[in-house]
Amino acid sequence: MKQVGGVTSFRRYMDLALNDPNHGFYGSGRARVARDGDFVTSASLGPDFAALLAAQVVRWLDQFPADTPTLSLIEIGPGEGDLLADLVDALAEQSPQLLHRLELVLVEANPGMKQRQQARLQHQTIIPMRWCSMDELMAAPLRGLVLAHELLDALPVERLIYDDGVLWQQLVALNNTGALVWSKGPLPPPLAEEIEQVCNRCGLVLPPLDAEQGWTTEWHTGSLGWFTQLSRALEQGVLLVVDYALEMHRYYSARRSDGTLMAVQSQQAGLSPLHAPGSQDLTAHICLETVEDAAVQAGWTALDQVRQGEALLALGLAERLYGLQLLPPAELPQALQRREALLRLVDPSGLGDFRWILFGKGVNSSRFKLPTAPDNV
Ligand SMILES: C[S@@+](CC[C@H](N)C(=O)[O-])C[C@H]1O[C@@H](n2cnc3c(N)ncnc32)[C@H](O)[C@@H]1O
Repeated sequence: MKQVGGVTSFRRYMDLALNDPNHGFYGSGRARVARDGDFVTSASLGPDFAALLAAQVVRWLDQFPADTPTLSLIEIGPGEGDLLADLVDALAEQSPQLLHRLELVLVEANPGMKQRQQARLQHQTIIPMRWCSMDELMAAPLRGLVLAHELLDALPVERLIYDDGVLWQQLVALNNTGALVWSKGPLPPPLAEEIEQVCNRCGLVLPPLDAEQGWTTEWHTGSLGWFTQLSRALEQGVLLVVDYALEMHRYYSARRSDGTLMAVQSQQAGLSPLHAPGSQDLTAHICLETVEDAAVQAGWTALDQVRQGEALLALGLAERLYGLQLLPPAELPQALQRREALLRLVDPSGLGDFRWILFGKGVNSSRFKLPTAPDNV
């Protein structure tokens, strides 16, 4: 940044801090998604999450005509590769007849993470598997199911700050002691125009009328581009987004005065996002209405959404919990760990509040739903 004048947008800073191939948190492969790592995701808590999701994956894939030659199970941003590794095992157990029609496709932007996925999946020989870039997929679009599990919250965002009665773009600058500090500048015209258009379509007022000076928020300016690329990469199928998400009135409330941006390292949240760039994760929740708007603008159909806790209970989480009691005493340590993981997956103040959001392209909407009640799955 010194060489280009010492100031950049927060979005550019977040991109470098996460994805720079040498120094970025993901780009360098330094990130650890695990119980003893930087943070956990549902998939990293153990195989029960994938086993529950697998039942729904089978139902969706069964909706494709039997003569579809290959169905692709695609994950964008697979992290450690845990979700796909466990899904393959669960699919082999729950629906072995599906396997010969399936391929796994991993789309990972960061070489350091790709290496970790290759190591995690090196013994996976049940289903053909390949890593692809989004450009490669756009050149040869696929049919099937796309998973974006805790990906959208890792895409770089703009930050907006309300000051002196005006909305500004938040910037990151180097001060004369070489420290990173917040700064601000006028909204670049393309960003101002994008905000105005999305606000008009979604009925959003930014900043909220009762916002106080200094009110700050995030703007997912990359969403439309991401959904557009993915729409070109998928000829026909569904996209399941699983992420931290808030309704627009909660996301852009005056009371949420410092947005949703979080810096996380070694399971600790709360350090400044400008602290030790590249050593900590930076993540921002998604806004349900504006994400849906981006998807629809890019040609997707919004099919359904549900909280993770509700989805997993509908898929049999309680029965799985009960089944742990039947395990032999020798398996008590594993049973206790799985019990803790299952409870965390549905904890309404944590992972249970995640949203499962389903989008479709070229599919019959009535056939693709999310699980909401035991007799509805
Ligand atoms: C928070 S981790 C999610 C890991 C995994 N899905 C899970 O839930 O355990 C984000 C992952 O997305 C990758 N990533 C970030 N931006 C990406 C992009 N534009 N395209 C593909 N992968 C990306 C990161 O390198 C990392 O592997």
